[in-house]
Amino acid sequence: MLWSNQFVVTGQAQATILGIETSCDETAAAIVVRDQSGRGTISSNVVRSQLDEHAAFGGVVPELAARAHVSYLDHIIAQACREAGVALGDVDAIAATAGPGLIGGVLVGLTTAKALAAALGKPLIAVNHLEAHALTARLTDGVQFPYLMLLVSGGHSQFVLVRGVGDYQRWGTTIDDALGEAFDKVAKLLSLGHPGGPAVEAIARSGDPRRFRFPRPLLREARLDFSFSGLKTAVRLQAEAIAPLGDQDVADIAASFQAAVAEIVGVRSEQALARFAAELPGAPLQLVVAGGVAANRAIGTALEAVCGKAGATLIVPPIPLCTDNGAMVAWAGAERFALGATDPLDFTARPRWPLDLDDMQVHPDAA
Ligand code: KG4
Ligand code: ZN
Repeated sequence: MLWSNQFVVTGQAQATILGIETSCDETAAAIVVRDQSGRGTISSNVVRSQLDEHAAFGGVVPELAARAHVSYLDHIIAQACREAGVALGDVDAIAATAGPGLIGGVLVGLTTAKALAAALGKPLIAVNHLEAHALTARLTDGVQFPYLMLLVSGGHSQFVLVRGVGDYQRWGTTIDDALGEAFDKVAKLLSLGHPGGPAVEAIARSGDPRRFRFPRPLLREARLDFSFSGLKTAVRLQAEAIAPLGDQDVADIAASFQAAVAEIVGVRSEQALARFAAELPGAPLQLVVAGGVAANRAIGTALEAVCGKAGATLIVPPIPLCTDNGAMVAWAGAERFALGATDPLDFTARPRWPLDLDDMQVHPDAA
């Protein structure tokens, strides 16, 4: 270690944390206060989405994302402090996403956090982006450990057993595309624009979900993994088979695709809850959903039905806190800060960083 500003913190005092998020296409900063009892309050939460920068390309362009973070992050941090009425010098620690994600963007946020930490003499907390998603429900709903998390975003589709801060076990993941990515690709092939999820959901409302019976890959297998790439190919082949597509065709394809993924997510969640009940007898059954796809109502309805049947509590934080934001990073920082877990200033950004470190040995590419 070259140099360090690792601090020993006592744990129980109230803490004000600045959180910085730059791992994908949102430039975000927030101030969150965690009180002695462990309750969190969001004092500010500023998010600048880069939709306009990437719209013409039909997806996130990593270099453009990094450049936009460089242009806007300082202003977003200043705005977060202003809106919270907190001076930078008054925060107790600086938390930033240090991975996994697009490395150019991660470096912008993490390096900014290191510079602030060094200049202000404050501790740095290098946050795992997935951990930030995993802990958000404790900020918004005060959920107690343990719980099952379903993370469904543009980059991830995972079931994770959340046992405590820093204590995670991944039970399943996608073996190809993430669920949000599948929505985005289907939207692209139907010329619905980017990001695809909201567009597919909107047009699906006027479609017939039974017109096409798309495959449900892996569903018959007793594992908690997902696979969406075959489904996406089936959608493409169907679209090509009935081209040129009229408006009703597009709506029917979108609705049929959404029905397939809602069923897949529902069945898998039922299996995951059954495993939770078997492995953690006596623990309340709790399913927490995180990630941008949590906004999808068809999936939400499927999860409500599954949780109702299983006697599980379904927790979906407010959608702006399910998608990428600074408050979740600040909160994860606050939870770690309360445990005295700060990081050295030479902490290296990680493009891949699975929550469950056992996965690193089994799947070196896992994130
Ligand atoms: O969590 P998020 O904001 O960013 C990361 O990927 O980390 O998730 C974005 C993803 C995109 O793929 C987007 O298409 C998808 O979430 N999404 C949706 C909906 N809203 C956003 N997918 C399905 N239905 C939606 N309503
Ligand atoms: Zn995310």
